[in-house]
Amino acid sequence: MLKGKTIILGVTGSIAAYKTVDIASQLTQAGAKVDVIMTKAATEFVTPLTFRAITGRPVVTEIFASGSEFNVEHVSLAEAAKVIVIAPATANIIAKLAAGIADDMLCCTVLASKAPVIIAPAMDVNMYQNPITQDNLTKLKARNFITVGPASGRLASGKEGLGRLADTIDIIGTIQQVLGKNGDLADKHIVVTAGGTQEPIDPIRCITNRSSGKMGYALAEAARDRGAKVTLITAPTSLTKPVGMEIVNVCTAQETYQAVRDLVPQADALIMAAAVADYRPLSVARDKIKKEGNRLTLELEHTADILGSIKGEFIRVGFAAESSNLVENAKQKLHQKELDLIVANDISSFGADNNQVTIIDRESKIDSLPLLPKREVADRILDKVVALLTERSRK
Ligand code: CTP
Repeated sequence: MLKGKTIILGVTGSIAAYKTVDIASQLTQAGAKVDVIMTKAATEFVTPLTFRAITGRPVVTEIFASGSEFNVEHVSLAEAAKVIVIAPATANIIAKLAAGIADDMLCCTVLASKAPVIIAPAMDVNMYQNPITQDNLTKLKARNFITVGPASGRLASGKEGLGRLADTIDIIGTIQQVLGKNGDLADKHIVVTAGGTQEPIDPIRCITNRSSGKMGYALAEAARDRGAKVTLITAPTSLTKPVGMEIVNVCTAQETYQAVRDLVPQADALIMAAAVADYRPLSVARDKIKKEGNRLTLELEHTADILGSIKGEFIRVGFAAESSNLVENAKQKLHQKELDLIVANDISSFGADNNQVTIIDRESKIDSLPLLPKREVADRILDKVVALLTERSRK
């Protein structure tokens, strides 16, 4: 996705400029060609050398622009860019762009480029909330600029509020989404469930499982980065919620059932990566259960089988986490739940970053993938979903 893509990273004069070093580093590590343009004020916070060392590429600054070291023309830079990201974006650069002022290399490059522009504002809360800044942002959004953040929290001034630079993961997520906008899932709506449900026993205890949610989140992100509109129905996890998609927080199997039932009628595919509890306590104690005697018996009842009962026109993908007879059990679930695909994996992958899966389709075609990062597994699953959607649209 990011490999080989030219990304212009515009850095302006905010204390948050140091965070952009990490963004530049992560983009470079992912294989992107990162061309950094710094305003003069930005160079007061971080040196051009830092970005040059991180990206391995010349850094454009006002100082260098008039000098000779890296006389990179803004026009050629602007043409090569697949996306321009301004992070941090001060109130000043936002105002200049809204007014079409081109008095520095960064503004000139933005004006000279046809690439999408992402703006990650970072400033004092009052400056951000000032109607002038808000008007400027509205103007830019009307011109198809994309904004990410700001986040809320402690600001450089010591105040609390909106104005922090969005997290690196959100800025990179937005870049990926923008780059993948016209991907093979463009105009498709994919619903993904993730994480392990929690079934309450009493106000503080629950029955849950060891699902980390990583596979579901990887699927949701991969679908987003291929242009899909994504809804992620997530049970509690320790993962950061991805940007660029609708997030529906659920806790129990019943809440998951309701969310899926409400959302799938408009969806093109449902991918059930969540580890849904098969049983829940028959009754939930109102007060904390006290320790009494040597044994405690909990009576459990069956939860609704979501994949087994919610059917429709959409592609249905299930997961089968097994500790034995992987393929056999997965095939049985595929047929029982009338799925289009089932992804079988050994339970040892729970919580891990990599997964070795076997994908089985309705014709019992078995595709055993090697051990791969969950994000790559997600893309291989989506390749098959895309093929099924294409096949269906031909009928
Ligand atoms: N699933 C579901 N509703 C449930 C339980 C599971 O939709 N109440 C989905 C899971 O998200 C998964 C698939 O069904 O995609 C298979 O889940 P799994 O727990 O492996 O299978 P079960 O049908 O619950 O069978 P068993 O637990 O006996 O292996």
